[in-house]
Amino acid sequence: MASSSPEKGYALLEALNLEVHYGGIAAVKGVSFAVEEGELVCLIGANGAGKTSTLKALARMIPSSGEIHYRKERLDRQPSHLLIGKGMALVPEGRGIFARLTVAENLAMGAYHRNDKDGIAADLAHVYTLLPRLKERAEQVAGTLSGGEQQMLAIGRALMGRPQLLLLDEPSMGLAPLMVEKVFEVIRAVAAEGVTIFLVEQNARLALQTCSRGYVMESGRITLADTSDKLLADPRVRAAYLGE
Ligand SMILES: Nc1ncnc2c1ncn2[C@@H]1O[C@H](COP(=O)(O)OP(=O)(O)O)[C@@H](O)[C@H]1O
Ligand SMILES: [Mg+2]
Repeated sequence: MASSSPEKGYALLEALNLEVHYGGIAAVKGVSFAVEEGELVCLIGANGAGKTSTLKALARMIPSSGEIHYRKERLDRQPSHLLIGKGMALVPEGRGIFARLTVAENLAMGAYHRNDKDGIAADLAHVYTLLPRLKERAEQVAGTLSGGEQQMLAIGRALMGRPQLLLLDEPSMGLAPLMVEKVFEVIRAVAAEGVTIFLVEQNARLALQTCSRGYVMESGRITLADTSDKLLADPRVRAAYLGE
């Protein structure tokens, strides 16, 4: 897996030998990967492979062993709250929006740690341009949005923190195909603006078609790492993840 380890200190994000245990059970068994600034990289794998655990470890929401380097800092011994303001944002599986708050209130929550009023207003205007549907529904209670709209809100809220790195956990989950396409258009647009994205997906085909590079995770291990073109053509990927 030569492509999985760019030189140390070069990548925006690098995990080395990351492990996550729940009690005595190992969910992530020593994975290494790197995401360079400006890249759109995916981690694909079946349900239970360890993808969410990997993202939660990166965001310091659960304990892990191994090294996590982000912007040349060691993150692995820092708690989650110290990451705020460092430019890493996680859009969790299931979205984690505040169902009883309005769209506008949810977006404001994404900027709660900031006090640059003008910057926040500019970012809100930008999010509404990128996601016009949210603007139309600004005063609507978030719990009444469709699944796709909720996913867009979760992405919009993360953007309100002006992230440098966005971690996305299964943005396509539970959405109708047309909505999945729309959400992925947003992901491509965000990436085109220079935000680095690490995308976790069970929808391997779409993820690989969207990203330049990918990692395949199976039972807590990364088993393949390559460019998306090569992974899409790989017979092992085709058989296991593309239904071919
Ligand atoms: N809080 C938890 N406690 C115990 N086991 C867990 C917990 N969360 C996940 N697991 C287990 O860890 C493994 C990986 O889960 P997860 O990271 O959610 O995978 P994925 O996101 O790829 O579906 C699974 O076997 C799952 O049952
Ligand atoms: Mg998951």
